[in-house]
Amino acid sequence: METKKYIQISQPCMGQEEWEACRIPIFSGWMTQGPQVAAFEKLFAEIHQVKHAIAVSNCTTALHLALVAAGVGPGDEVIVPAFTWVSTANAILYCGAKPVFVDIDLNTFNIDVKQIKQALTLKTKAIIPVHLFGLCADIDAINDVLQEHALAYRVPPPGTTPMRVAIIEDGACASGAIYKGRPAGGLGDIGCFSFHPRKSVTTGEGGMLTTNDDQIAEHLNQLRNHGASISEEQRHKGPKPYILPEFKMVGYNYRMTDLQGAVGLVQLKKLRGFIDYRNKWAQYFSEQFSEIPWIKTPVTPQGYQHGWQSYVLLIDESKSPVSRNDMMEYLQQQGIATRPGTHAVHMLEYYAKNYNIRPEDYPNAKTADQKSMTIPLHNMMEEDDFKYVVEKIKEIK
Ligand SMILES: Cc1ncc(COP(=O)(O)O)c(C=O)c1O
Repeated sequence: METKKYIQISQPCMGQEEWEACRIPIFSGWMTQGPQVAAFEKLFAEIHQVKHAIAVSNCTTALHLALVAAGVGPGDEVIVPAFTWVSTANAILYCGAKPVFVDIDLNTFNIDVKQIKQALTLKTKAIIPVHLFGLCADIDAINDVLQEHALAYRVPPPGTTPMRVAIIEDGACASGAIYKGRPAGGLGDIGCFSFHPRKSVTTGEGGMLTTNDDQIAEHLNQLRNHGASISEEQRHKGPKPYILPEFKMVGYNYRMTDLQGAVGLVQLKKLRGFIDYRNKWAQYFSEQFSEIPWIKTPVTPQGYQHGWQSYVLLIDESKSPVSRNDMMEYLQQQGIATRPGTHAVHMLEYYAKNYNIRPEDYPNAKTADQKSMTIPLHNMMEEDDFKYVVEKIKEIK
């Protein structure tokens, strides 16, 4: 039997415009962070309705810098959902702090707000709500829990300082996502985004930090560039060629290149169209699967606009004809790529061993790890592809 073309789990949607955009840095000779990155940042800030957007090399480095800017260091604890990409937790380790996991809500795959209170301690310095697969975490409810906690500790025990828990959004998957009328990126103190090729808009690798706070923005700006007080571009344009930057802090080279900035700028102009297209087909999937008793389709709560980085199903193996893994193998044979949603970080060897965590300590994260299935939803797919995916899933009996 002849198999249809292979439908990838994700595929960047790029073409002539992105190709042409690369000519600008190539022919100008300005390759590292420069005018293209600045234009990319400006548009990103506009779209996400934030005062500042600061481009970096990827979202993992964005998370690292966000935690540094929030003052996270050894002895501190940072709350993180147990079901996320490993680097959300790794970034906490880069700062010498301790990740404290909280289970997720299986309806949204996001942090279960009801369980945050029990994870808060006097050492909690920050929380990283992840907007997983493009759906914003319930930031208002998280704020309420933190507020209550701050009130509870208004008179802190001797030797401790009053509490202010920073909210760092992991919006790696959530460019363009909206929460109760407000775009991701301005919902907490600092937002972090990814432009990895599995995201809606891509620059190959790439990341963005967002904030409405001028001082934090300036700190992040310097941290990404070795801690330098002024950028190469400023020095290049400046009148005093003998001036070297001042270095008042230990920084990193986490800059984005102007080649990436040029591509990102073109991609970003297409973001809304990309999401609308994904939304249309996500609705189609959800309608088509609504009658299948062993499929739980993704939930978008009232007032949220999903960014649809991924479309992730949950398989109820007590009702399904075959296991999730067999289903994934079958679909692979039919020319359809699938992936588990992401992983339960607390079950990964490093975390399980070093923090002595059992898989069942976060049961929903464990279920999501073992029973979730991402199916293809991207902007290179055509009507036939979406219909083919539905047809093949319906054939599983
Ligand atoms: C939730 C989440 N956080 C962080 C990251 C890291 O992003 P990057 O690959 O840009 O470092 C990813 C990437 O897939 C992610 O899905």
